[in-house]
Amino acid sequence: MNAREKEEYLREYEILKKKGKSFFPYAIMKDSVMMLVVAGVLIAMSIIMGAEQGPKADPTTTTYVPRPEWYFFYLFELLRVIKPPALVPVATIGIPTICMVLLLLLPFYDRGPERIPWKRPIATITGIMVIIAMALLTYKGAVAGPPTEIDLPTAPQYEKGKQIVAQSGCLACHAIGENGAHGGLGPDLTEIGSKIPREAIKQSVTIGPGIMPSFKGLGNEDLNAVADYLASLD
Ligand code: HEC
Repeated sequence: MNAREKEEYLREYEILKKKGKSFFPYAIMKDSVMMLVVAGVLIAMSIIMGAEQGPKADPTTTTYVPRPEWYFFYLFELLRVIKPPALVPVATIGIPTICMVLLLLLPFYDRGPERIPWKRPIATITGIMVIIAMALLTYKGAVAGPPTEIDLPTAPQYEKGKQIVAQSGCLACHAIGENGAHGGLGPDLTEIGSKIPREAIKQSVTIGPGIMPSFKGLGNEDLNAVADYLASLD
């Protein structure tokens, strides 16, 4: 846009502004009426049709796989990709906040008068990259395995114990390899087999030392499977 075009634009804008209506109360009135209509329709729909809320929450489940709504998959995946605990706040708070602030401040740092996409290549390319990144993260988040999974190679005879450990909530406090809570309440179990004997492992899981809950409820067979699996980690 050169100086002449700019002048023309400003003149046109002046004319339009003179014969236009003010934002308050005309536009405000329109918006308010429309908002009331939408809210009214939503309220009526929820009263008449009700809302599907899914099955009742079961606080005792041990096999529940926590998954976010689909529109949060990209954040979910971001959190899965960024593993070190020190960087988790960066993934959950830092990056989204920075993006929001950058978007909010856009009118202040992008003062270019151009509106046509190919005449503002930086903004266009950035926009497309963000959309591609979010689409990719959303896709990866959607197909990602459940977080209650231990992705270490395991001999077939230990598979069962591995499954039980993965699905019994152990990973909420313990880390095993890349999985679970790094810096959680409990010690890292990645090499537990080389640290304490199998019997001590079984004992720990059965009684639950310190603040660890007892997993006696798993039954002797499952406790043995868990102990066999953990003892194989070295
Ligand atoms: C609420 C958190 C929590 C959960 C859930 C939990 N643990 Fe623990 N676990 C701990 C803590 C804390 C310790 C250390 C206890 C102590 O020595 O005071 C521990 C200790 C252990 C030990 C002994 C480690 C050692 O070096 O002596 C084993 C083995 C173990 N846990 C296995 C498991 C298994 C298997 C599960 C799941 C079936 C599990 N834990 C679930 C918190 C937890």
